[in-house]
Amino acid sequence: PALQEELVNPKNGDPAHKHLKQQASILGHLDELGLLRRGRCFVEFGAGRGKLSHWIHEALKNNGDLKGSEDLQLLLVERSSIRFKVDGKHQDAGVQFERLQVDIEHLDLCKVPLLQDKKFPLVGVGKHLCGAATDLALRCLLETSRLRDPETEPPQKRLKPSEPAAEASPGDSGACSGASVGPVLGLAVALCCHHRCEWRHFVGRQFFLERGLGAAEFSAFCRMSSWATCGGRPANQDYSSHQSTNQGRAEEEHEPLDETDTMNKFLSAVEREKIGRLCKRLIDSGRCHFLKSQGFSSRLTCYTDQGVTLENVLLTAVPSSSSIYF
Ligand SMILES: C[S@@+](CC[C@H](N)C(=O)[O-])C[C@H]1O[C@@H](n2cnc3c(N)ncnc32)[C@H](O)[C@@H]1O
Repeated sequence: PALQEELVNPKNGDPAHKHLKQQASILGHLDELGLLRRGRCFVEFGAGRGKLSHWIHEALKNNGDLKGSEDLQLLLVERSSIRFKVDGKHQDAGVQFERLQVDIEHLDLCKVPLLQDKKFPLVGVGKHLCGAATDLALRCLLETSRLRDPETEPPQKRLKPSEPAAEASPGDSGACSGASVGPVLGLAVALCCHHRCEWRHFVGRQFFLERGLGAAEFSAFCRMSSWATCGGRPANQDYSSHQSTNQGRAEEEHEPLDETDTMNKFLSAVEREKIGRLCKRLIDSGRCHFLKSQGFSSRLTCYTDQGVTLENVLLTAVPSSSSIYF
């Protein structure tokens, strides 16, 4: 509902409308999972201009009964310096917006003062988090949330997404020494650019290794994954409909793999697209396997149709109902 007005606003051009549709769908999925509530901290990875956080804030601002009843935090993580940010505009009482210009690879959530303050439960979000950035974000979030040392502490039941922050027992989180942050209630990340994944960061290495696949095979799957989005066209042409203007480096992030692949000659465009999608699916299955190992139930969903974006898969995860850590 928060995006309804904008979705029917004729002033929005086609690209803006496509972004709005995706943002609306991601919010819908967060809501369905019980994650779209105040009293938590949304960490948006690869935030770009910060539009997803903007709409999360709008949705919760307009959330009648809950308005003002609990605080809300939005932490935007983006390595590039971005023009036309939208997060600077928000000044509502009870809402804290913070932008960190940092590579996710170097981010330790335990060292972010905003998160130590109220220790709100965390919800990870992202829209078109390219390749390895998704793996880095999963590690960043889950390694932060990992509970106690299993050698010394008993297993701990996780919070369900709908449980309020106050029910979190003290020290519910913090693999990190010293300071701790709230537990992870779940995540929703729209995936993209699997050809930019890297074996060294990939969270699904174990999944691959158990199937006799290693770094070389992974690299081949990454290359072939780009066929899903440019298999039907000559290489490098009109790769994506999910780009937007004014995103600075964000646009570069979506450059397709420079492909002059010999397989072009042997496979039809349809076959290439199909194989490309399967490669993405395999890589994402490794991510789901990792999430499972961390006590989360995950799902891959087509969150919008291919006319809106060819990168239309959303990874969502919430703690498994009776899950314990480790
Ligand atoms: C395709 S853009 C998406 C931007 C925005 N989420 C949107 O939907 O418009 C991907 C963004 O992730 C950022 N990014 C990619 N890898 C990153 C990393 N390792 N650390 C932080 N940001 C990263 C890029 O700079 C870029 O802004």
